[in-house]
Amino acid sequence: MKTLSNIQQMKQDGEKISMVTAYDYPSAKQVEQANIDMILVGDSLGMTVLGYESTVDVTLEDMIHHSRAVRRGAPDTFVVVDMPFGTVGVDPTTDIQNAIQLYQTSRGNALKVEGAHLTQFIAQATAMGIPIVSHLGLTPQSVGVMGYKLQGATKEAATQLIEDAKAAERAGAVALVVEAIPSDLARAISSQLTIPVIGIGAGKDTDGQVLVYHDMLNYGVDRHAKFVKQYEDFSVGVAALEQYHSEVKRGAFPSEAYTYKKQIMSEVDA
Ligand code: KIV
Repeated sequence: MKTLSNIQQMKQDGEKISMVTAYDYPSAKQVEQANIDMILVGDSLGMTVLGYESTVDVTLEDMIHHSRAVRRGAPDTFVVVDMPFGTVGVDPTTDIQNAIQLYQTSRGNALKVEGAHLTQFIAQATAMGIPIVSHLGLTPQSVGVMGYKLQGATKEAATQLIEDAKAAERAGAVALVVEAIPSDLARAISSQLTIPVIGIGAGKDTDGQVLVYHDMLNYGVDRHAKFVKQYEDFSVGVAALEQYHSEVKRGAFPSEAYTYKKQIMSEVDA
């Protein structure tokens, strides 16, 4: 199992960190087999596997259910679990109760929270022994307010983002995810922080990269962001299903090769 100190050491050694989302047993198994450094059970599961419009509908129970399947598929990978919309940033007592429940039951190694307003929560959770990853820049839980667009794109916004990143680190965050920000800003944040900075749509100069499994493998996704590279095309599954459908209709499946040879009816009085 790669530990937090292994991941932190990678930053110190200048070794890039790879991270991919996984939401279930088979995807987690594949990610672990591929030796990816970290798994994110992202609340993007709301769109990728539950068919919601956004991450806003995802519940704590959804995250627990999917994280436990991920852990079964990837027992030896460092797993980060998203705290979903409305479960943090409410009030200190509710926030910490939700964090404890998710950390205890999800089997994750760390929790991730979106937004610069959560430094106090990060400090409180860290003091309780819960490792927290902060997510800044484009934060999908806030798209209703900020939209899906590049963040930190003005001098003021970039300066604020650097301050927010430093505040998250000071509060105790063990890593930072930055999404959809200019690459030179991401480089500056990565070089000014001692914790690993993982980018998505943030250029190549962060300490690591994260992509969404279904985006990079083109699995059931209709729209792709500019920063997504498609490494495979799982939409080929549709052609296979069409062939199966046609073979069943024609009686071509199952052939002899897929049928048990044992004959029993001569022994049955019916
Ligand atoms: O939920 C998710 O998949 C994420 C990534 C986009 C970083 O937060």
